[in-house]
Amino acid sequence: MPDLLVDLETGQAQTPLYQRIADSIRQDVLAGRLRRGERVPSTRSLARDLRVNRNTVAQAFEVLIAEGFLEGRHGSGTFVARELPHAPFSPQGPRPNLTRLRRVALANSPTPPAFYARIMSPDGLAPLPGIDIDLRHGVPDLQAFPLRLWRRIVGHQLLVARRDRMHYGSAYGLVELRKAIAAYLGRARGIDCTHRNVLITSGSQQGLWLTASLLAGPSDRVMLEDPGYLGARSVLSSLGAKIVPVPVDVEGASVAAVARAATEPVTPKLLYLTPSHQYPTGVTLSAARRMELLELAARHGFVIIEDDYDSEFRYEGRPVRALAGIDSAGVVCYVGSFSKVMYPGLRVGYVVGPQWLVDAMVAMRWHVDFMPAMLESAALAQFIEEGHFERHLRRMRALYAQKREVLVTALRRHMPGALAAPLAAGGMKLAVNVPRHLGRDEALHRAARAGVRLMDPGQCYLDPARAPNRLLMGFASLPADRLEEAVRRIAAAWK
Ligand SMILES: Cc1ncc(COP(=O)(O)O)c(C=O)c1O
Repeated sequence: MPDLLVDLETGQAQTPLYQRIADSIRQDVLAGRLRRGERVPSTRSLARDLRVNRNTVAQAFEVLIAEGFLEGRHGSGTFVARELPHAPFSPQGPRPNLTRLRRVALANSPTPPAFYARIMSPDGLAPLPGIDIDLRHGVPDLQAFPLRLWRRIVGHQLLVARRDRMHYGSAYGLVELRKAIAAYLGRARGIDCTHRNVLITSGSQQGLWLTASLLAGPSDRVMLEDPGYLGARSVLSSLGAKIVPVPVDVEGASVAAVARAATEPVTPKLLYLTPSHQYPTGVTLSAARRMELLELAARHGFVIIEDDYDSEFRYEGRPVRALAGIDSAGVVCYVGSFSKVMYPGLRVGYVVGPQWLVDAMVAMRWHVDFMPAMLESAALAQFIEEGHFERHLRRMRALYAQKREVLVTALRRHMPGALAAPLAAGGMKLAVNVPRHLGRDEALHRAARAGVRLMDPGQCYLDPARAPNRLLMGFASLPADRLEEAVRRIAAAWK
């Protein structure tokens, strides 16, 4: 009979004693220190050795017998089970084959786990050692967010907490929020819709997934801007769809490429676009191309997914209407997000489309999360209805315009010629040219050694080798004086 070296330090001090004994024996079994079929000491002798009550040991044995690690044989004692169960979540556990669709998803993902591991840890954004100026684009200025006001509104929603809002609710999302969004889109983006056309999602990413998975499946052809948004490409590749790249120039997505793809024997199912502010180049889709693309979609029967993620931030020229606002044929499915104007952790986005599509998406989302969270939705509806949202947006637009100006001036002063043309009229980032003698990687490393983190748009290209020698600087989240400091450091590092 083996000596049982029960480790009472296993687990937290607040873990009951019987559980710590059970945990220790279980670990010994799993590690092979106690062999299958081997007899274990009696509860009486173990209790004596451990100087604990015999009932405590008996309780631990009961747990292990119930879990299948030990088995009691009548009259002859307790034994390690001959057939061991797997510990929950143990790496030795069985691995059923993933479904074909999931295998396709993993194999085709342009964002494999290793990619995320570089930027995300399981606890959130991975810290960047040695970096004190982080120019990751797409992050709003959280210091300027009216947190006190938001706290008051969320608190108010909790105070007036209606019991029906604590229950399961509509899979379309809270009706007040859908109405507030429909009215806002009418005012700000020229989209004529009612709340019946609006589905609340968990960020626009869920909206993209819902739309794409309804419209395209394995082997279907889908048209994507190239370079384009990795979030969209990863959704479509994960569904097994075949990506048809649509090149982007200074006027936005190429109409010629779309026309070519649309007239091939099998018409693509959809075209994904970021017309207001192309991701990542920042160009705006020209008026002429808008009309031509809408016409092509209507003629050939494909849907245009319009991702309008940060159109609110435009600093030059006239505001451009959303494509959905000039679509008379009903071919556009509009995807919006509160991640940029509010904050990304809010996880509220929305899809606006014809009612048949919204209804189909609801059927689909039912399998994923039933419905969006109510408290955030109710608070956001109040924030919009009381005018705070558009006030905050105006303040942020002015603030970002000012920061952009600071960055442009600093680049012109310290790094003449670095500012990449054309200068994006909107958004939260600018592109800088990397000196010819440095590649993007070397430029990134040198900036990082100087404590500055820049973004590489290379991964947005289907063929990263085709990416121009440019890097991106997000200017929204940092104070203006840090932007100037960032430029000085990069200028020195790239000399
Ligand atoms: C092109 C594009 N679409 C959408 C989003 C927003 O995604 P979400 O609403 O899921 O936070 C981003 C964020 O960076 C983006 O760059």
